[in-house]
Amino acid sequence: MFDAKKFVQEALAEVKKQVGSETAIIALSGGVDSSAAAVLAHRALGKRLIAVFVDHGLMRKDEEKEIVEVFKNKLGMNLVVVNARERFLKALKGVTEPEKKRKIIGELFIRIFEEVAKKENAKFLVQGTIAPDWIESMGGIKSHHNVAGLPSGMILRLVEPLRDLYKDEVRKVARELGLPESVSERMPFPGPGLAVRVLGELTPEKITIVKEANAIVEEEIKKAGLKPWQALAALLEGKSVGVKGDIREYGYTIAVRAVESVDAMTATAMPLPWQVLKKIQKRITREVPGVTRVLYDITDKPPATIEFE
Ligand code: XMP
Repeated sequence: MFDAKKFVQEALAEVKKQVGSETAIIALSGGVDSSAAAVLAHRALGKRLIAVFVDHGLMRKDEEKEIVEVFKNKLGMNLVVVNARERFLKALKGVTEPEKKRKIIGELFIRIFEEVAKKENAKFLVQGTIAPDWIESMGGIKSHHNVAGLPSGMILRLVEPLRDLYKDEVRKVARELGLPESVSERMPFPGPGLAVRVLGELTPEKITIVKEANAIVEEEIKKAGLKPWQALAALLEGKSVGVKGDIREYGYTIAVRAVESVDAMTATAMPLPWQVLKKIQKRITREVPGVTRVLYDITDKPPATIEFE
C-alpha cells in the first residue's frame, strides 16, 4: 500500500540533497503532477524555488488566473508567468505532424525555462514527470515527457521527484501536501496542451474553438457529478455541411471523448448519459462559433490513444 506521508518525507530529503544550496525552477502547468512537484519542491527549497508558468496559449480556459490564485496568492510561491503565446504560434506555424508539434513545444519550453533560469541563476529544473510519461515515451508511442519531449544538450539538471509514481499515487501526494481539491482531483491535461487536441495545423481560430469546447465538456461533466479519468474535446480536420437558422454553414467538427482508466496506459470509453451528451452538443454548437457538428468517440485505448494526437 502506497504511503503518501512517507513518500513526502523521503522526497523532501531527496530534493534537498539533489539541489543543495542552489536555486531551482519548476515548470508549473496547473495540472496535478506539476502542482504536487511544485509544492514538494517549495517545501524543500522555500524561496530558492521559482515556479515558472509558461503561457503557450494552449492551456485550459482561465488557467493563468487559477495558477496565480493558487500558487502565488494562496501558497505564497515565487511565481514567474511568461507570456509566450506569439512565440509558440510562430514556431508551430504550418506544423501538422503530432510528434513534431510535441518536439517544437518541448524545445521552446526548455529554451524559455533556460532563459528564466539564467536570469534567476538557477541550475536545476524540477519536473512533475510521472511513470507513464517516460514508460510511454520509451515505448515510442508518444514522446510524452512532462514538457513534451526534452531536447538534448539541455544545461539544466533535472529533478523529478514523482518519477516512479502513477496518477492515483500523485493524487494521494497532492492531498497529503494540502493542495485544494480543484487541483488534486483534476483531470489530466497533456503537456503540449490543446496543440494535440487540434488535428493538423494550429491557427488562433482553431485554438479558441477547442479551448471553448473543452471548457464546456469539463463544465457539463462536473455539473452532472461524473468523474471520468479524462474528458476532452478535440477539433477534427476538415469541415462538414450544417445549417444554422435556415442558413447553410460549412463548419468544424468537434469530437468529445470521456474515458475511464486507472493509469492511462489503457482506457475504456465511458458511456456518458445521453442527456449529458446532448447538453454538451447543444452548448458547443450554440456557444462556439464555427462548429456545426459534435461526435462522441466510443473507442477504447487500445486501439486509440486518449488524446487524438
Ligand atoms: P495517450 O494519448 O497517450 O495519453 O493515451 C495518456 C495520458 O497522457 C496524457 N498525454 C500527455 N501528457 N505530455 C504529457 O505530459 C504529452 O505529450 C502527452 N500526451 C498525452 C494524456 O492526456 C493522457 O492523460
